[in-house]
Amino acid sequence: MNQHLQTITKFIEQQEDMPDEQRSLLLKAVKDADYALTIAEFKLERTEKVKRTTAILLEETIEELEQKRKAIEQTNEALNKSLEELKATQTQLIQSEKMASLGELTAGIAHEIQNPLNFVNNFAEVSTELIDEIEEERHKKKEEKDEELVAEILADLKENLLKINHHGKRADAIVKGMLEHSRTNTGEKTLTDINALAEEFLKLSYHGLRAKDKSFNAAFEMELDPNLPKINVVAPDIGRVLLNLINNAFYAVNERGKTEEGYKPLVILKTKQVGNKLDIKVADNGTGISQNNIDKIFQPFFTTKPTGSGTGLGLSLSYDIVKAHGGEFKVQSKENIGSTFTIILPKK
Ligand SMILES: Nc1ncnc2c1ncn2[C@@H]1O[C@H](COP(=O)(O)OP(=O)(O)OP(=O)(O)O)[C@@H](O)[C@H]1O
Ligand SMILES: [Mg+2]
Repeated sequence: MNQHLQTITKFIEQQEDMPDEQRSLLLKAVKDADYALTIAEFKLERTEKVKRTTAILLEETIEELEQKRKAIEQTNEALNKSLEELKATQTQLIQSEKMASLGELTAGIAHEIQNPLNFVNNFAEVSTELIDEIEEERHKKKEEKDEELVAEILADLKENLLKINHHGKRADAIVKGMLEHSRTNTGEKTLTDINALAEEFLKLSYHGLRAKDKSFNAAFEMELDPNLPKINVVAPDIGRVLLNLINNAFYAVNERGKTEEGYKPLVILKTKQVGNKLDIKVADNGTGISQNNIDKIFQPFFTTKPTGSGTGLGLSLSYDIVKAHGGEFKVQSKENIGSTFTIILPKK
């Protein structure tokens, strides 16, 4: 029993003049109080224990959370690192792709320029020999001189010089094409009306070809989206892409016209807004592209045109320009049916 209650009990017991009934009532009350006190103490102890257990549990949970936080932090760090690695690999990949295309291009240039240079050298050598022959004739006595032969040699010489000039121009076109390749992506973007640009270059191409070849004739149609929004592009570059596509299309219809009676050459230029993109199509009903060639047309220097008519740089240059604008290139073609080239440019 509680010490204070024991004192009280003793005190009650010592009260001799207290009636028995009252004393036993008081003693019972003290006993009850003691019992209540014991229960309260017990409960208190229990609560204390629960409190301690809870504290321990809490500590454990905190520790666990801390561990989890650290794990997440580590995962984050690892993720960041792999993201950086991925970016680095991507840059490297782009770089090596560039290097590869540069290598391809360099090999191409060397090969392409070698060919006209060979012609130039050969014709120049032959021409020197022809001049020697003329010199020989000049030193002969008047009655032995063969004027007819001299005239013939001079005609040959003229022809050789024309050939030298022709192949020189070819080399010139190749070098110019190359320079344009390296020039892409340097111009400034301006808000451009693609419809106006397309129309301008269609007319430029048509009249350019008519000026070169009086017999050239082809119908062209324009289906331009009147609600086409202006977009930010390097206008001269996109113009060059359009010009090349339109030139190719006119060339293809002209070629087909040479072999087919009653054929009606047609080139169609279409623009359309599709979602947040602009779709530009150049379609023709010309020769089409064979299955064999379709994978090669974007390679630098790939051309099916006779020497002097094309450098084969048009589409490879166009591809670079469209890619630099974040756009896409699509080709559909069937031999003797026609081709459709589609450029998709982002509106941004
Ligand atoms: N619309 C088309 N129809 C048929 N063939 C095409 C068409 N467009 C391109 N080609 C084929 O793709 C080849 C490559 O085209 P690209 O524009 O790159 O070079 P090119 O026109 O031959 O020469 P360049 O453009 O340098 O004058 C062409 O020679 C031709 O065989
Ligand atoms: Mg071309």
